[in-house]
Amino acid sequence: MRIRTFDQYQEAYRHSVEDPEGFWAEIAQEFQWRKPWKRVLQWNFEEPNVKWFIGGKLNITENCLDRHLKDKADQPAIIWEPNDPTEPTVTLTYRMLYDQVCRFANVLKRNGVKKGDRVCIYMPMVPELAVAVLACARIGAIHSVVFGGFSAQSIADRINDAQCSVVITSDGANRGNKQIPMKDTVDDALIGCPSVKKVIVLTHTRTAVAMLKGRDVWWETEMKQVTAECEAEEMDAEDMLFILYTSGSTGKPKGVVHTCGGYMVYTAYTFQNVFQYEPGDVHFCTADIGWITGHSYILYGPLASGATSLMFEGVPTWPDAGRFWDIVDKHKVNILYTAPTAIRSLMGFGLDYVKGHDLSSLRILGSVGEPINEEAWHWYDDNIGKNRCPIVDTWWQTETGGMLITPIAGITKTKPGYATLPLPGVQPLLVDEAGKEIEGNGVSGNLCMKFPWPGILRTTYGDHERCRQTYFSAYPGLYFTGDGCLRDEDGYYRITGRVDDVLNVSGHRIGTAEVENAINMHTGVIESAVVGYPHDIKGQGIYAYVIAENDTDHDVDLVRRDILATVSRIIGPIAKPDKIQFVSGLPKTRSGKIMRRILRKIAEGDTSNLGDTTTLLDPAVVEEIKAGALVEVKA
Ligand code: WT7
Repeated sequence: MRIRTFDQYQEAYRHSVEDPEGFWAEIAQEFQWRKPWKRVLQWNFEEPNVKWFIGGKLNITENCLDRHLKDKADQPAIIWEPNDPTEPTVTLTYRMLYDQVCRFANVLKRNGVKKGDRVCIYMPMVPELAVAVLACARIGAIHSVVFGGFSAQSIADRINDAQCSVVITSDGANRGNKQIPMKDTVDDALIGCPSVKKVIVLTHTRTAVAMLKGRDVWWETEMKQVTAECEAEEMDAEDMLFILYTSGSTGKPKGVVHTCGGYMVYTAYTFQNVFQYEPGDVHFCTADIGWITGHSYILYGPLASGATSLMFEGVPTWPDAGRFWDIVDKHKVNILYTAPTAIRSLMGFGLDYVKGHDLSSLRILGSVGEPINEEAWHWYDDNIGKNRCPIVDTWWQTETGGMLITPIAGITKTKPGYATLPLPGVQPLLVDEAGKEIEGNGVSGNLCMKFPWPGILRTTYGDHERCRQTYFSAYPGLYFTGDGCLRDEDGYYRITGRVDDVLNVSGHRIGTAEVENAINMHTGVIESAVVGYPHDIKGQGIYAYVIAENDTDHDVDLVRRDILATVSRIIGPIAKPDKIQFVSGLPKTRSGKIMRRILRKIAEGDTSNLGDTTTLLDPAVVEEIKAGALVEVKA
C-alpha cells in the first residue's frame, strides 16, 4: 500500500485505473474485517448509487483502537495541547484511548443510544471530543459533529435535520484569552429540538451552566457508572458512519453522509501515502474536528494507521503568534498540516515569532482548505520547512472524504500553487459549460470526477435527490466538484476556486444564499446580495450589498452592526460580512435574477469593465453602486 518512488506512484495509478476493484481490494485487505466483502464495487453516477466492499463487516474503532493494542498499547494515540500553554499536556496512549472510548460507548448505551441513532457533538477541541466521536462509531451510532463556532440556530437546524436523540457538549471552550459558552448555546438550540432526549455535559472550563433534571447528565459522573469493556457493534461496510453538514450554493447546509468501510480505507491510505507517515511520527493537523479535515486527518486516518495525532485546543496567535512553532518544538512534530489562512496570518506577524523555536523535527508540511498563494507557499517553505520539507498542497472536499489531488510528500515534484496530480484511484477531468470534456494540457474548465473512490459521499442525509441534484446532475455521469481548475503543460492541476455561489472564508465554506437569508432576517433589511472579494488573510472576504428600509431613528453604523449581530445569531460569527454597502437597488435582469458578476467585479474594486449591462432592468443602479463607498465594518 505504500508508494515510495514516483515510478511506484505511476504504477499504482495505472493499476487503479485499469483494475480499480483489484487495486482497492489489495489495500482494504490490510484492515481488520469481521467478514470479508463479496464484491468490491458497485456504482452508477446517475442515481447516484455507490457501494464499496459490499457485504463486508467491520467496526472502524476495532481498526483504530483494538488492532493496535498488540504492539502499540503504550504509544501515544492522541497528544492534547491545551489552549493555555502553562497547563499540562494530556497524552492518551492507544490503551487509554481504547478504555475511554469503551467506557463512553457504555455511557451512550446507558443513555438510550442504539445503532443507527444520530448523536450531535458540539464540543471544544479536547480529548473527550475524540472519545465521543469514536464511542459513537463503536456502537454504530451516527455522529454529527457541529463546529463550535456555529450559533444555536445552526445547531438546531442540524439536530432537526438529522433528528438527533442525544447531544454531547461541554460547559464551555477556551479560545485564546476568551471563554466561549457551549452548554448555554446548546440550551438555546434545544428550545426547538423535540427529538433530543439527553444531553451529556463535560466539565471543561468550570463555568456555571444550567442542568435540566431528566435531560442533562454530567460526563464525569456517567463515566464512573460503567465498565471499560464494550464489544464493538458489527457494521456493514455501507452502514452510515457519520453526517457532516456543509454549505452549498442554495438553501440550508446539507448533511454529507460517509459510510464505514470505504471511508476508513480511503482516509488511512491517503494519510499514510500523502504524508509518507513513518511509525513514531507525530502528526499535527491544526484543523478543528468540526470540519472534515479534523474527522479524516486528526481522527480516522491517523488512528486507523496507528499514528500519533496531536490535537490543539487554542488559536495560532495566543499567547502570541509563535504558538504553532512552540507546539512543534515542544512535541517534536514531524508532520504539520495547516491552512493557507493561518500561514498568511502568521506571516503578517513577522519572523520574530518563528525565531527561537527548534523546528528541526519537521519533515513534511501540508496545506488544505483553499488555494495557497505563492507568497504564502514560499514563506512556509523558507521559514518553517527551511527548504528541506516537501509541501503537500492537498485538494479535496467534505464530500470526497479524503484528499484527491495532491503531491505525495517527497515523491511528486511540487510547484507553488498547484495541487499537482491525482492520487491513485482518482480520475479527474475538466469540462466546459456544456459538459464537454476538455482534453489535453494547458487548459482550464470545471473539475469533475468520472469514477468513484472509496471515500466519496454516499448521499445527503434524508434527501438523496438533493445529493443527485447538487453533485451529479450538472454533468450527467460525472461527479461535479464545484471548483474551477487549470491543467498546465505538465498535466499538473491548479484549483482556481469555486465556480458556484460558495465562498471560502479563512478556509470555511459558506454559501452566499445562506448569508443573504441571515441578513434578510434583520428587521430593517428589504433585500441583500452577497459576493466574495479577495482578502489578504482570509482568502475571500464577505461583501454584502443591502437594501435597507429608510431608518431615521438609527444611524447607519449601528444598523451595520445590528446586521452583523443578526448574522452571528443566525449562522455564527464566521459568516459575518466584512463589508456592507447600503444600496437603493440591485442589478437585476428583466427576469429578476441578480447579476452577481457585476457585484463581484465592484467588490473586487474592478469597475473599469463590467461587461454587458444592457440586459439590466435598471442600468442606473450600477452607477450608484460603483459610486458608493466600500466600507469595512468592525464588530
Ligand atoms: C472546498 C472544499 C478539504 C477539506 C477542507 C475544506 C477548497 C480545499 C483546497 C486546495 C484550493 C481548496 C475548494 C473545495 N479547497 N482544498 N488545496 N486548493 N482549494 O473542505 O469545507 O468541504 O471545502 O475548499 O474550493 O471545493 P470543504
